[in-house]
Amino acid sequence: MSNAWSIYIIVLAVGNILAMVWLLIITNRDNGVDASDTTGHKWDGIEELNNPLPRWWLGLFIITIIFAGVYLYLYPGLGSYKGSLNWSQMSEYRQARDANEEIQAEFFAEFVSYDIPALAKSERAMATGERLFANNCTTCHGSGGRGAKGFPNLTDNDWLYGNQPETILASIENGRAGVMPNLNLNSATVAVLARYLKHLSGEDGISDHVIDSGPKRFAVCAACHGADGKGNQAIGAPNLTDGIWLHGGRVSDIENVLRHGMQGNMPSFANALNSNEIRLLAAYVISLSSSNMADGSNTADGSNTADGSNTTEDE
Ligand code: HEC
Ligand code: HEC
Repeated sequence: MSNAWSIYIIVLAVGNILAMVWLLIITNRDNGVDASDTTGHKWDGIEELNNPLPRWWLGLFIITIIFAGVYLYLYPGLGSYKGSLNWSQMSEYRQARDANEEIQAEFFAEFVSYDIPALAKSERAMATGERLFANNCTTCHGSGGRGAKGFPNLTDNDWLYGNQPETILASIENGRAGVMPNLNLNSATVAVLARYLKHLSGEDGISDHVIDSGPKRFAVCAACHGADGKGNQAIGAPNLTDGIWLHGGRVSDIENVLRHGMQGNMPSFANALNSNEIRLLAAYVISLSSSNMADGSNTADGSNTADGSNTTEDE
């Protein structure tokens, strides 16, 4: 604030307060009025009495003036004068932030020695994990992490990229962008492949023609999805044989993916969250799915657990 502005504001503020004081003094001078005096105003026979201010009201007025004086002495308000307490919005914010960071550091100090699987077993850590997940992840992955069309279910044991702690950590920290290219397939190929994939994932009643000609047409897909269609976690190519469909499990949904290609976008959280929080979230994701796993580990090739607990059509 320039000096001129500062002086202008000080003069205005102090001048206002002094004017109030002056007003109080002149209205309370004993000028000989008594309760029956009128101001001389008269409307339809009703006269306005010229009474002094009630005492309680006057008292309040004086208190507010004293308050204003004390306030302006303690806090910023008079131009560039900072107030004797040296208070500012920024300093208050910094104090609150530092206090918060201290609480956080204290909380996380308990867990520095835990690896991610151990974190996933700590009830206290997972309560915070749940909160972080609700704030940052449920918009896409759904409450409880059950996913939606295009957004993977994190509670099943079907992983695009894998469920090793480091892999999940990387998914959250760096984000993911799985790309299923548009391969310009003709419509006959699209129709056959969509039905062939339904056959691979265990659906009955698929025609012999599809089952016979499927593998040849699938050759172009094998580079990413593997010759057996079980996917490749290194590039996030999903297992196409487990009956779990990221983009919908109807033949028309699959045809849609084949015709146009598809892309998944998981944002990076490296800037939004600190490393403690990301570790906690990775553990939370593991805790979400581990309740579905008998032995707590996924099969190495990314195929589903034997009990077929995830046979939903469409996720
Ligand atoms: C803007 C939407 C969005 C948000 C927000 C989001 N995700 Fe994701 N996430 C996705 C998508 C889409 C994918 C699939 C990426 C792909 O297809 O390659 C994904 C993939 C993942 C994967 C890999 C799953 C697998 O099968 O390998 C993990 C783990 C994950 N997200 C965890 C999280 C966590 C934890 C958060 C919160 C910190 C989060 N996501 C927030 C959209 C989101
Ligand atoms: C360059 C690698 C690549 C090739 C080649 C490829 N895909 Fe994909 N495909 C992917 C990736 C990655 C995804 C996951 C997209 C996402 O994350 O949303 C995917 C997704 C899919 C899906 C959706 C799966 C679901 O769960 O909803 C289907 C179906 C599919 N691919 C079939 C095929 C078929 C059939 C071919 C051959 C004609 C093929 N893909 C060729 C990489 C590939």
